[in-house]
Amino acid sequence: MKTIDELLAEGVSGKRVFVRADLNVPLDGTTITDDGRIRAVLPTVKALAGAGARVVVASHLGRPKGAPDPAFSLAPAAARLGELLGAEVAFATDTVGESARATVAGLGDGGVAVLENLRFNPGETSKDDAERGAFADELASLADVYVGDGFGAVHRGHASVYDLPARLPHAAGYLIAAEVSVLKKLTEDVKRPYVVVLGGAKVSDKLAVIDSLLAKADRLLIGGGMAYTFLKAQGHEVGVSLLQEDQVPVVKEYMERAERNGVELVLPVDVLASTEFPDLKTKAPAEYIAVDADRIPADKEGLDIGPKTRELYASKIADAATVFWNGPLGVFEHPDYAGGTRAIAQALVDGKAFTVVGGGDSAAAVRTLGFDENAFGHISTGGGASLEYLEGKTLPGLAALED
Ligand code: 3PG
Repeated sequence: MKTIDELLAEGVSGKRVFVRADLNVPLDGTTITDDGRIRAVLPTVKALAGAGARVVVASHLGRPKGAPDPAFSLAPAAARLGELLGAEVAFATDTVGESARATVAGLGDGGVAVLENLRFNPGETSKDDAERGAFADELASLADVYVGDGFGAVHRGHASVYDLPARLPHAAGYLIAAEVSVLKKLTEDVKRPYVVVLGGAKVSDKLAVIDSLLAKADRLLIGGGMAYTFLKAQGHEVGVSLLQEDQVPVVKEYMERAERNGVELVLPVDVLASTEFPDLKTKAPAEYIAVDADRIPADKEGLDIGPKTRELYASKIADAATVFWNGPLGVFEHPDYAGGTRAIAQALVDGKAFTVVGGGDSAAAVRTLGFDENAFGHISTGGGASLEYLEGKTLPGLAALED
């Protein structure tokens, strides 16, 4: 994989460099609530602009349906990039149309532009190779060189991630290089005990990674909405908690395999349960009770891990040498249900392990709960991407940068 330093050494002055970033930031209307992914691409953009390149930054945001949708515009992200760079950033109001061509043509050496959301064009995510290829051809006509730096999207075989690098000389940006070197440590020579904390809503999103971790991790701590499918598989009733009934047999098999492999699979022993999902807009105080995980009342749903579980999980993290954490442990967006996620973040900070926080949600949680990012070994910008990397899958966006 060619590095950006090698590219810079060859000289990029006056060249149009297409930087595929992941500016898929959380938005409240047009306000960015966590700009971590924009800050993460700054080293690459600065280095290229500083070397006189004409930098064309492109990304997706959200999941628009292949047509322009103002709710998913990258305009706020472009403005924030300009603030962080302390420089003017031009914005093209389309992806490969008149505005994009004029904006790129108007760039001077060292100038930076952002294109509108790539997913406003159906070719970006198309399953049809020809349609994706045609969009990649149009994108290629806007640049001389390609730099892949959108780590959060490398698991997508999309036009700008997979097809475009095949059409241009290419290199990996600083963010991708940093992410890959950290994730390699978890897959190649992990220091033990290796503890993995998995949260998040849906167990089906995590099945593949759990499957592969059952052969690699020493301890697996489960929280978030998916914990209820495990509790059900253990034979407990979970009230009206999030439950993927169809996954119960799979989860049962995982529990048996964990036992056979000597992997400690740890489930919540208590939860905070309520009859109501909290109001995330007003954040009005919630009414809930702390109950043992085998006594969740029939009319209540679990919304966070309880105090006993927080203590238990902290003790399971305390002696770890390596911790990977993906997914919030509860509905952390509401202050009454942020305690479980906060307790895990605190345990990571307090311990001596090399810690990796993977994923948009957990990374945003760490920052919005006020933790110092530098207290963690590495905060990955990629949720799905880091999980698929740990699964050992070939990631299209990395494979495309290899040759
Ligand atoms: C993410 O948020 O994980 C990445 O930006 C990828 O987004 P996607 O899941 O919509 O492809």
